[in-house]
Amino acid sequence: MDHKQPTLVKGVSEIPAQAILDISEKMEREEMTKQNQSKEQFVHQVFENIAPKYDFMNSLLSFRRHKAWRKFTMKKLNVQPGEKAMDVCCGTGDWTISLGQAVGSKGEVIGLDFSQNMLDIGEEKRKKEGNLEHVQYIHGNAMDLPSKDHSFNYATIGFALRNVPDIKKVLSEMKRVVKPGGMVVSLELSKPIFAPFKWVYYAYFNYILPLLGKLFANRYEQYSWLPESLKSFPDSRELARIFEEVGLERVETYLFFGGIAALHIGYKKDEEV
Ligand SMILES: C[S@@+](CC[C@H](N)C(=O)[O-])C[C@H]1O[C@@H](n2cnc3c(N)ncnc32)[C@H](O)[C@@H]1O
Repeated sequence: MDHKQPTLVKGVSEIPAQAILDISEKMEREEMTKQNQSKEQFVHQVFENIAPKYDFMNSLLSFRRHKAWRKFTMKKLNVQPGEKAMDVCCGTGDWTISLGQAVGSKGEVIGLDFSQNMLDIGEEKRKKEGNLEHVQYIHGNAMDLPSKDHSFNYATIGFALRNVPDIKKVLSEMKRVVKPGGMVVSLELSKPIFAPFKWVYYAYFNYILPLLGKLFANRYEQYSWLPESLKSFPDSRELARIFEEVGLERVETYLFFGGIAALHIGYKKDEEV
């Protein structure tokens, strides 16, 4: 056989260049895994800590706008009785509960999160709301959803895509668990488009918001991480492209309040089984 000899790097002639490349790729992968793990651990610890204050702080910091955005989103989804949904990174379960109410007792909703403290609050809310026996919370990781392929009509993720170590992996997982024709939906903070508004918003986000976090929840570090998490997050156009890259089609984007939040909806191909 005519095997091409691997190129040798000068000075380390006994090690083939391919082996060096393999080692450096392996080290890069290990480094990324380490970074992902530490981001995951950090995010996990943040939500375990702020769980009791999460709902209050959410309303305070968004001036209750998140409620209107959630309402708009539910209208767009037009969820029907008897359908099935998975709410990934469900936190204290606001969206999970809305989905549960929309699908009714013949439907099924799973809320998944890796923070037990957030889930516990969600469970209290579920019981208080009543008639939501078809809603179930499970402890799990968005990077590896514990559900079979093609199980749900909707996979939703609210204000959490920013927090996960690998956006593509999570969206692919969400796509995997929805049925052909089903929807993958993200409601998330985004980057404003209009310049003067952008500066005001960033000033609020970078300086005032962490102070409010300190004042009302006694957690400066956790809330100063919020602006950090948005900096590295794709803007609404890039996120729409990522939706397409993972194979979702007919991607729709809706911007809220000058683009400080965005709703993305993508559909799994009909023939994908
Ligand atoms: C900002 S909260 C959003 C909660 C809820 N979806 C909402 O709309 O209010 C983000 C949630 O994502 C969860 N989370 C972050 N990364 C996760 C992961 N890799 N797997 C599961 N849950 C995760 C956190 O524990 C937290 O409850």
